[in-house]
Amino acid sequence: MSTLLVTGASGHLGRSVVEILLEQKAGTVIAGTRDARKVADLAVKGAEVRVIDFDKPETLAEGLKGVDRLLLISTDALQTRTEQQRRVVEAAATAGVKHVVYTSAPAARPTDKSLVANSHYWTEQAIAASTIPGWTVLRNNIYAEIILMGLANALKSGQHYTATGKAGRNYVTREDCAAVAAAALASDFDGKRILDVTGPAPVTQDEIAALAGAIAGKAVTHVPLPPDALRQGLIGAGLPDFYADVLVAFDVDAAEGYHAIATPVVKDFAGREPTSVKAFLEAKTDAIRAMV
Ligand SMILES: NC(=O)c1ccc[n+]([C@@H]2O[C@H](COP(=O)([O-])OP(=O)(O)OC[C@H]3O[C@@H](n4cnc5c(N)ncnc54)[C@H](OP(=O)(O)O)[C@@H]3O)[C@@H](O)[C@H]2O)c1
Repeated sequence: MSTLLVTGASGHLGRSVVEILLEQKAGTVIAGTRDARKVADLAVKGAEVRVIDFDKPETLAEGLKGVDRLLLISTDALQTRTEQQRRVVEAAATAGVKHVVYTSAPAARPTDKSLVANSHYWTEQAIAASTIPGWTVLRNNIYAEIILMGLANALKSGQHYTATGKAGRNYVTREDCAAVAAAALASDFDGKRILDVTGPAPVTQDEIAALAGAIAGKAVTHVPLPPDALRQGLIGAGLPDFYADVLVAFDVDAAEGYHAIATPVVKDFAGREPTSVKAFLEAKTDAIRAMV
């Protein structure tokens, strides 16, 4: 049985992956976190807990000792994560990790237009250039949970502003991403692969407005905006420039078709069909109605 380490174990995705691995008795499971107190419950369920902070290089050698397979969960430190994650890759290679699974994003590529796509790309490159013998890059599409964040304003005003135009996005639930990541980590695959993790089919923002409106019992219209107008609107609504740029870049990527890819990865790895946006939103009916 392999020794499996999951970083970011107190986060939404990391916690789910650790729970799945423990339920499946997939091997020796290590929950890596900056704050062991946040995963005390996982220790009770059988995980070994190690303190791992990508900003504290001294935690990496000890944290990675004896690890066969590592799930490196990308951090939310968009401006510094390329350096953080390069540090982890280097430490993993030194520690003799045999396989690294990394949570990336659709269309990771070198670009000055999207900090998200750019930082994932350079992390992928660091993994590919390392001496780690095998790796799996999981390009997780946009979480379905992210839809809820944009819906609060849309349901109040009846207008759902985006810069995605008529293009679709193949949203995938965190739960499906966690099942895929757990399966990829626990498998004995020892090659190199990049996998797009997607929902069943791309969904447009017109469709999301209609679905949310039907659930909430209120008409919601999608209003497609040019990127600059969306940016001004987000900043006007109080969002810091930095986050407005990140969100607009996401929408531009979608408008350009980068988020519409569809793959059978969830079915292949989790053994079930991915959750659709419709099913996901219907399961959130109470939360959506409370937003009106
Ligand atoms: N596909 C999408 O739509 C989407 C959306 C949002 C984010 N993401 C990416 O997917 C990742 C996982 O998603 P999530 O929902 O689980 O995010 P989350 O709940 O915010 O968890 C992220 C975790 O990253 C870990 N982390 C942050 N800084 C770190 C550091 N310096 N060293 C080590 N670990 C650190 C933290 O774990 P500990 O506190 O346990 O150390 C944190 O809980 C995010 O971090 C982000 O990169 C993807």
